[in-house]
Amino acid sequence: MAKPKVYSTHQLFEEARKILDAECEVQYWTDSERPPRDEVLRRVKDKEGLVCLLTEKVNEEFLRSAPKLRIASNVAVGYDNIDVDACTKRGIAVTNTPGVLDETTADFAWTLLMTVARRVAEGELLARSGNWKGWNLDQLCGADVWGKTLGIVGFGRIGRSVARRASGFQMKIIYTDAVRVSEEVEKSLNAEFRDMNSLLAESDFISLHVPLLPETRGLFDAPKLFRMKPTAFLINTSRGPVVEEAALVTALDNNKIAGAALDVFENEPFIHPGLKRPNVVLTPHIASASIETRTKMALMAANNIVAVFKGRRPPNLLNPDIFKK
Ligand code: DGY
Repeated sequence: MAKPKVYSTHQLFEEARKILDAECEVQYWTDSERPPRDEVLRRVKDKEGLVCLLTEKVNEEFLRSAPKLRIASNVAVGYDNIDVDACTKRGIAVTNTPGVLDETTADFAWTLLMTVARRVAEGELLARSGNWKGWNLDQLCGADVWGKTLGIVGFGRIGRSVARRASGFQMKIIYTDAVRVSEEVEKSLNAEFRDMNSLLAESDFISLHVPLLPETRGLFDAPKLFRMKPTAFLINTSRGPVVEEAALVTALDNNKIAGAALDVFENEPFIHPGLKRPNVVLTPHIASASIETRTKMALMAANNIVAVFKGRRPPNLLNPDIFKK
């Protein structure tokens, strides 16, 4: 019997390719750059399965080009690049990669937090520049991390993993979320619930861990940024559009906050020029980028594809409604 045809917009890792190739006829995009849109639209015309990255927009235009598609398997936990409702209407399964990247992403949120607080990027530049004249008492003094208040916005798996690491720094941990977690979870993480305004007023560091939804787009706008402490730092490893970049630049210009560390941006790969300043740490969307984690993500994506073609419900299905029909 002919194997189902799948298009993968990345060559993935060998382990994942083995799983896919055993069950499907897979065409991989193998260039190191992301594929052009028209190339992707052309390739998916006859495909029943798609493995895609968060850089691919699976919207109405895409779906019109892929009339045979049965599954879109995103190699990311965030799936704001996929119009899930449009897929559901067409009976197309949508899957993501939850769970496997929580700890790696939390590690990175902490990396950014420490880097911006202790001016690591500035220090590194100075050390390499050849201009370092030696130790000095007031050189590159940053902000202490230990003992401060960490405010976590979005207390799901990643937010909680970030909280767990804060105890080692003897920090006060506060969080806000649409839904308050159980007392048991709060106790185990030593975390206290706050409404957004209290969190903004109390936090020395604010770390964002919400998915990009209509209600979180632009969540950190001028009024919120201006309510933060002038000594506070904003850390974003969630999605760029959760923060209004122009408002963040205004807040930084006016010393309304002390700095920011950003792994994600409103219009990636574009970075607002106003963010390129010493008190802002910038990284190119790499919070989950450890070899171990990215391999696990690719494996999950491959297993989701294979499940569908074996007639099973994929393990990380986002639109279970398609199986109710
Ligand atoms: C995700 O998975 O959503 C990240 O942004 C990339 O790992």
